[in-house]
Amino acid sequence: MIAWQEPLVDAVYVVAILVFILGLRSMSSPATARRGIVLAGVAMLAAVAVTFVSPGLSNFALIALGVLVGGLAGWYWARVVQMTAMPQMVAIFNGMGGGAAGAIAGVELLSSLGDPTTAGLSLAGAVIGSVSIAGSLVAFLKLQGWMRSKPLVFPGQQPVNLGVLALGVAFGGYAVYTVHTIWLLPFFALLIVFGVLLALPIGGADMPVVISLFNALTGIAVALDGFALVNGPLGDAGYAMVIAGTLVGAAGSLLTLLMAKAMNRSVGNVLFGAFGATEETGATIAGSMKSIDPDDAAVMMAYANTVVIAPGYGMAVAQAQQKVKELADLLEAKGVAVKFAIHPVAGRMPGHMNVLLAEAGISYDKLFDRDEINSEFPNTDVVLVIGANDVVNPAARRQGSPLQGMPILDVDGAHNVIVIKRGQGRGFAGIENDLFYKENTRMLYGDAQQVVGKLVTALKKS
Ligand code: TAP
Repeated sequence: MIAWQEPLVDAVYVVAILVFILGLRSMSSPATARRGIVLAGVAMLAAVAVTFVSPGLSNFALIALGVLVGGLAGWYWARVVQMTAMPQMVAIFNGMGGGAAGAIAGVELLSSLGDPTTAGLSLAGAVIGSVSIAGSLVAFLKLQGWMRSKPLVFPGQQPVNLGVLALGVAFGGYAVYTVHTIWLLPFFALLIVFGVLLALPIGGADMPVVISLFNALTGIAVALDGFALVNGPLGDAGYAMVIAGTLVGAAGSLLTLLMAKAMNRSVGNVLFGAFGATEETGATIAGSMKSIDPDDAAVMMAYANTVVIAPGYGMAVAQAQQKVKELADLLEAKGVAVKFAIHPVAGRMPGHMNVLLAEAGISYDKLFDRDEINSEFPNTDVVLVIGANDVVNPAARRQGSPLQGMPILDVDGAHNVIVIKRGQGRGFAGIENDLFYKENTRMLYGDAQQVVGKLVTALKKS
C-alpha cells in the first residue's frame, strides 16, 4: 500500500464517525432533522468511497456494481415512496442491512472457521443479521398488506421458537467445532425460520416497536461483523463498521424502548405477548354515531375558547396539513386558542405528525405530547380529530379489549369532539372505536383535505 493512503483512510473514517454523531444529534429535533440526515448521508458516502483505497481490497468491479445497483434502487424507491408507506420501506431497507450483515458474517465464517474468536464473533453477527432480515421481511409483508397483518399465534409457539433458535445456534457451534462449513447451511436456514417465527405473532399497533427493534439488531450485527473484520486485511473498515453499527444499535435500542414506553408495554411483552391477537367478545358499544355538517362544525369551533386538533394517519393520507394550518390560523384570528395533540405513534412512523405539521409551517410550540396535553382535555371546548382512530380509542381503557393498556389521547374528556374520517373504516389495529358513539362526539364524514377545506371556507364566511 502506498504510504499516504493509510492515514487518509483512517482520517476519513474518524471524520465520518464524528459527522455520524453530529448527524444523529441533529436528528433529535424536527427543526434540524433534515440537516442531520444530510450530514449522516455525506459521512456514509465518504466512508464508502475511501474504503476503495483500503489495502487488501479486490473485486473492485463487482463492488462498484453492487454499490451502483443498490444505490440506484434505494434512490428510486426513496423518491417515489408515499409518506404513508414509510414504515414498510424502513422495514425492507433495514432488512437489507441485516441481510448484508448476515452475508458478511457468512463470508467471514467460511474463511475463519478454524479461528474460534473470529468465528465466534461472525457466528453472533450471522445469528442477529439473519433474524433481522427474516423478521424485517415479515414486517414489510404485513405492513404492505401482502400478508395477514393480525398476530399469528399457535399452541406451544414460544417453546417451538426457542427450540428452532437453539438448534440453529447448535449447528453453528458444531460448524466451528468441527471446522466443517456444511453445518453452516442448517445454521442459516434455522435462523431465518426463527426470524420469521419471531415476527409472526406481532401485528397491529406493535409494529412500530418491532421495526425499530430489528433496526437495532441490524446495527448490532454490523458491529459484530466489524469486530470480526478488525483482525483481517480490511482491519480499518472493521473499526468503521464497529462504530457505525454501535451507533445504529444504540440509537435503535433507545428508540425501541421509547416506542415501547409510548405503548405502555415492555419489549418482551411486545415480542411474546401477541398484542391484539384476541378478539374481544361480548363487548357492545353503547350509543350511536351522530353526524355534523361542516358549517355547524365551523360555528362550534369559531365560538370556542379552546380547540385542540388531534391529527392521525388519515391526515397524512389526505395530505391535509396545509389546510389544517389555514384552519388553525383562521381560528386564532377569531381569538380561539389552538393547540395540537401529538400521540407518539400517530400515523405510520415516529414523528410522522410532527414532520407533516412542520412542513405546513405550524410552529413547534403549538405541538403538545400526550403527557403534556392529556390533563387539558376536560377544559377543552372542542377537540377536532383529523383521521386519527387507534390513538384516540377509549377502548384502550377497557378490560379485555385488544387495545387494553395502550396510552391514548383522552380526547373523549373534552366538552365536544368532532371526528373527521371518510366512513366506517377502522384504525390500524382493526378495533371498533368507542369514541365515535359517545354523546359528545359528532362525525364529520369525508376526505380530510376536502372537509378541512370546507371548514376553512365556512370560517371565512362567518
Ligand atoms: P389509524 O388508527 O390508522 O386510523 C386512521 C383513520 O384515518 C382510519 O380510521 C380512517 O378511517 C381514517 N382515514 C384514512 N384515510 C383518510 C382520509 N383520506 N381522510 C380522512 N380520514 C381518513 O391512525 P392513528 O390513530 O394515527 O393510529 C396509528 C396506528 O398505526 C396505531 O395503531 C399505531 O400503532 C400504528 N402504527 C404506527 C406507526 C408509527 S411509528 N407511528 C408505525 C406503524 C403502525 P376511514 O377509512 O373511515 O376514513
